[in-house]
Amino acid sequence: MAELNLVLLGPPGSGKGTQGERLQEDLRLPYYATGDILRAAVREETELGRTAKEYMDLGDLVPDEVIVGTIAERIDSEEAADGFILDGFPRTLPQAEALDRKLEELGRAVSGVLLIDVPDEEVMRRLGGRRTCIENGHVFHVEFNPPKQEGVCDLDGSALIVRDDDKPEVIRNRLGTYHAKTEPLIDRYDRQSLLRRIDGAAPPDEVEEEIRRTLATLKMEADEAI
Ligand code: AP5
Repeated sequence: MAELNLVLLGPPGSGKGTQGERLQEDLRLPYYATGDILRAAVREETELGRTAKEYMDLGDLVPDEVIVGTIAERIDSEEAADGFILDGFPRTLPQAEALDRKLEELGRAVSGVLLIDVPDEEVMRRLGGRRTCIENGHVFHVEFNPPKQEGVCDLDGSALIVRDDDKPEVIRNRLGTYHAKTEPLIDRYDRQSLLRRIDGAAPPDEVEEEIRRTLATLKMEADEAI
């Protein structure tokens, strides 16, 4: 079977993390979520975390040069030899170019980009009720996807918290950043015929089902091409 090098694209709160977790189980591929990687670095107070924190708290993107190396290293690792799922990267045109360069160096390419799209009002609603597990970033919602026990992660038993960047004024800035810096990637990947649009406004199980169907087609096309 051909390798699957997958990118999840979409506004904050569109469900990339929710679907990324499900996909990871399904596809058994490494899942690299830059937001999770950066939040872990902030918690561990590494140099990367110290640099990233000031940008993240404001809802701004960390500089490209800070994040590109982190992802390049993972893509180049043994565990990613059969493919990977990227969530939150690339997020700017220079990041997309850096990803292409790295993959080209390895004789590989992006297999597909899933755009999980939802309107801005839905983003505001979702992020206001999001609860995130402090240990591993598992995601819940007080209304749409509540944990079995309030404040406790179903998967690893750790505490559920409200992310620092889920305050309304920061969410608005993250949305603005998405429209200005990340949306241009939609056109880029569409022109390369890599983009697949997923309706992220549907309930999580329906979104998952649409993603499964889309991936089945992508895999079929990739297998036919080798
Ligand atoms: P990151 O953590 O990547 O944040 P984001 O892209 O803003 O995405 P979110 O994690 O907020 O949302 P999501 O799409 O994963 O949605 P979720 O599944 O949680 O990045 C954080 C920060 O790190 C950035 O602001 C930036 O500073 C920095 N950063 C990261 N990557 C970077 C990069 N490449 N370059 C530079 N800086 C970078 O769902 C949201 C909520 O909705 C949950 O409560 C969930 O339960 C619920 N939900 C999910 N799906 C549904 C559904 N279908 N119906 C109803 N509710 C749903």
